[in-house]
Amino acid sequence: MSDLEAIRSALLADCAAADSLDAIEAVRVKALGKQSAIAALMKTLGAMSPEERQAKAPRIQGLRGEIADAVASRKAVLEARALDARLASERLDMSLPVSAGPQGSIHPVSQVMDELAEIFADLGFAVATGPEIEDDWHNFTALNIPETHPARAMHDTFYLNDPAEIGGDWAKLFRADTRKVLRTHTSPVQIRTMLQTPPPIRIIAPGRTYRSDSDATHTPMFHQVEGLVIDRGIHMGHLKWTLETFVKAFFERDDIVLRLRPSYFPFTEPSAEVDVGYTRDKSGRRIIGGAEPDGWMEILGSGMVHPKVIAACGLDPAEWQGFAFGCGIDRLAMLKYGMDDLRAFFDGDLRWLRHYGFHSLDIPTLSGGVGA
Ligand code: DAH
Repeated sequence: MSDLEAIRSALLADCAAADSLDAIEAVRVKALGKQSAIAALMKTLGAMSPEERQAKAPRIQGLRGEIADAVASRKAVLEARALDARLASERLDMSLPVSAGPQGSIHPVSQVMDELAEIFADLGFAVATGPEIEDDWHNFTALNIPETHPARAMHDTFYLNDPAEIGGDWAKLFRADTRKVLRTHTSPVQIRTMLQTPPPIRIIAPGRTYRSDSDATHTPMFHQVEGLVIDRGIHMGHLKWTLETFVKAFFERDDIVLRLRPSYFPFTEPSAEVDVGYTRDKSGRRIIGGAEPDGWMEILGSGMVHPKVIAACGLDPAEWQGFAFGCGIDRLAMLKYGMDDLRAFFDGDLRWLRHYGFHSLDIPTLSGGVGA
């Protein structure tokens, strides 16, 4: 048993001498591993007579426990010492300015909405909003689209469930005239604004819109911006000037030609669809602008607000006139920043966002440039 004593004092001395975490790990392996002297002693137990084993086993196991404890406590001391050293050497000064900019990027749709708000604020337009879950009256009826109007079918509307199917208290919430839809356009914000705000009115209303439609150029959710001006003596000239000023500011060039094409919308009379002229660069890519366009791209619908719409909002159409327009924001973003698949806008693919996203401090201003 003097053997045991010799092993014990040697290993305890090793423990005490270990002065790094690597060194104490080496002692642990040497003292307690499969090749260790203690493991060899444990193996001799099997060959002993029961009496001998009873006498020696507790001493061998006791030695193993004592050495394991010594290794663990030395390790704890060394860990505490290593942590103290790290705390002393690594300093974090919380009062310094951040060295990395904010992470993430601004989605092109958000960026374009900010650009629109900036451009129209400069023309005296406020930003208005309305609910995405709209009722039938604001989305259609008040906009001169009665129940039987074919435009309702054209809109591929998402209707909320029929009250008769749901039953119970829901029926009260969904009376026929208040039937809920996901708004198919931002035009109901015209109605809400005229009902809430006495004229003169100058607003834009950017936001989400919904139609049951899905392919490379249509997604069930998309974005529009509505424009509305109501005042005395407003005519098509005001509309044309406003749109030209907006499109030039948005695409950041003066040589932009607009074409107003006669069209039909139930809520405007007369109505015009607006095309913007494009030219081609050397590689044949379409570029918005150019004094002598090679072709035309439709960008928005517009017109003089229909007297029935003005009257539906409780205003006298003999006194108040106005113009309105509605424009797809996603399409504006695609034309300005050169994306070709609308669906990628809503995939949440980080590679796409890193490529097309904007720095969070890249805030559009007219003086600094509204894009690029
Ligand atoms: N609401 C129309 C649509 O979604 C767009 C539109 C056309 C809006 C003419 C207007 C307008 O305000 O005057 O297709």
